[in-house]
Amino acid sequence: MAMNSAYPSASASQANAPGLIDFRSDTVTRPDAAMRQAMMQAEVGDDVYGDDPTVNALEAKAAGLLGKEAAVYCTSGTQANLSAMLSHCQRGEEIIAGHGYHVLAAEAGGCAALGGIVPCAIPTGADGGLDPDDIEAAIKPDDPHCPISRLISLENTMGGRVQSVARLEAAAAVARRHGLSVHLDGARLMNASVALGVSAKDLAACADTVTICLSKGLGAPVGTVLAGPADVIARARRQRKLLGGAMRQAGVLAACGLYALEHNVERLAEDHANARRLAQGLAELPGFEIDLESCQTNMVFARLPSGNWETILDHVGEAGVTISHGRNLRLVCHKDITSDGVDIALQAFQQAATS
Ligand SMILES: Cc1ncc(COP(=O)(O)O)c(C=O)c1O
Repeated sequence: MAMNSAYPSASASQANAPGLIDFRSDTVTRPDAAMRQAMMQAEVGDDVYGDDPTVNALEAKAAGLLGKEAAVYCTSGTQANLSAMLSHCQRGEEIIAGHGYHVLAAEAGGCAALGGIVPCAIPTGADGGLDPDDIEAAIKPDDPHCPISRLISLENTMGGRVQSVARLEAAAAVARRHGLSVHLDGARLMNASVALGVSAKDLAACADTVTICLSKGLGAPVGTVLAGPADVIARARRQRKLLGGAMRQAGVLAACGLYALEHNVERLAEDHANARRLAQGLAELPGFEIDLESCQTNMVFARLPSGNWETILDHVGEAGVTISHGRNLRLVCHKDITSDGVDIALQAFQQAATS
């Protein structure tokens, strides 16, 4: 492929290659030729001195997209969430979030381990959102027995499900009434934006700080941006440094993020359509239980038949389709799985289920 045009088209060969029909997560996407070209052409400088023009451009673009004053480029969603939590909360203060939310359930307990922040999990609704009454009940009184409630953390999408602006605003309103800050883990906020036809800015308006991951459905190899008010982001920049995440000529990576925001947002709709088709196809197979209601973006949740689920997994694996091991499956569609890849997977599941 010629590498001298500004952005050559993506290599088709990397999609659907055997073993690369990988449904484990949208984090498995690989930078395509056009993204690598953007990387190669990136202007760089020392970002710790604020000198990297590509990082600066990415941060400015993300802040604009999310309707916030400033943004900081972090190495991962975990680091961006933790930088935010450390910026909002002091030791002994409390973060309230949904049961199963990534900040509490899947980030190695970083807020407690590194920040002395007290985690409080409240029920998560069927749509992945939080009920205002549950938030209200969880906020602690001004009592020396209790931690000081400081931050509500929301998540959208959550388990592939989307919450509307109204749903997010209702949760945030409780926080505001009590003088708490609001963080939104928007690792896949662009999926929610595309699915709802609502701008990322409108979805983020409920929150003081918000993240979007560039390394998931958007297809960049690395990085998450955290956006918010200038003073909070200045504190988060210091926390990122403390966490070892201040990089130097990071423009080579930020270029992928910029490319992703410019070229890979609208195409998320293809992943959503693929997921829907996959879910509907699997739902027709004997003994398969598919949660069609939760298939709102790029994720499919499936429960395989009790008798032969391991045989099914073996067969599907032999057909070159990679999925996580277990009877309860999460299958995630992304840019490296085309519609043909979905057909291959459906065919493999069908053969395994009916043989
Ligand atoms: C909702 C959510 N938030 C945060 C993260 C953390 O992102 P990272 O893996 O880049 O640390 C993930 C990762 O899957 C996620 O799903």
